[in-house]
Amino acid sequence: VEDPLDTVDWPVRTERLVIRRATFADAGATWTYRQLEEVCRWIPSHPRDVAAHASAFTDPVSLAMSLVVELATEERPVIGDLMVRVTDAWAQREVAEQARQRQAELGWSLHPAYGGRGYATEAVRAAIDLCFGPLELHRVIAECFADNEPSWRLMERVGMRREAHTRQDSLHRSLGWLDGYTYALLAEEHHSKECLGEDHRS
Ligand SMILES: CC(C)(COP(=O)(O)OP(=O)(O)OC[C@H]1O[C@@H](n2cnc3c(N)ncnc32)[C@H](O)[C@@H]1OP(=O)(O)O)[C@@H](O)C(=O)NCCC(=O)NCCS
Repeated sequence: VEDPLDTVDWPVRTERLVIRRATFADAGATWTYRQLEEVCRWIPSHPRDVAAHASAFTDPVSLAMSLVVELATEERPVIGDLMVRVTDAWAQREVAEQARQRQAELGWSLHPAYGGRGYATEAVRAAIDLCFGPLELHRVIAECFADNEPSWRLMERVGMRREAHTRQDSLHRSLGWLDGYTYALLAEEHHSKECLGEDHRS
């Protein structure tokens, strides 16, 4: 199966960031913040040590959908990572071919030392531009625990719409059954915002 992220001209540069595909060598840099309680509180796994993190991070399926975000300074520190998981949209069988790899789920983690400056927003906007640009996707989604306010506020900053509030659908490792939110953005919504020159960048 073709890797949709291969169609992108890497690295992707934004005003303040450089975004590239993750490699084996990024396991160490991502561990520096992935090991922090405030980062892993809301994300799917909490590896006990760097070896466990490296093994999960470098799993070929996971690595293929992972991007790292560097600050575009001379030192180029890794300040976060993104997931772009391209999937098939749901379709009736007769049209299933047209729905293949037309949707993506996005995910993100930011080193808290770099929080509060809009870096995650800038990185996620770039990921959305990739999804609706070279990847030619139809729809982009993101999911989070309803209690993860920094994450859903980020979804709203980048113009995503809340589509679902699910009741106690997700089991948290220490907080028990929690509500979830699903946010989404369509290509046509993204393009019409661009066309109108609407200020969705604030
Ligand atoms: C979710 C997460 C990435 C959000 O981080 P963040 O620092 O709030 O996001 P940004 O980098 O976009 O910064 C936005 C903040 O910077 C401020 N800001 C400053 N300059 C800015 C700019 N140029 N552009 C946008 N925002 C800017 C914003 O006002 C906002 O602050 P506020 O929350 O006080 O209003 C981070 O909390 C995180 O990594 N959490 C742990 C992992 C996680 O939960 N992942 C998602 C699982 S679903």
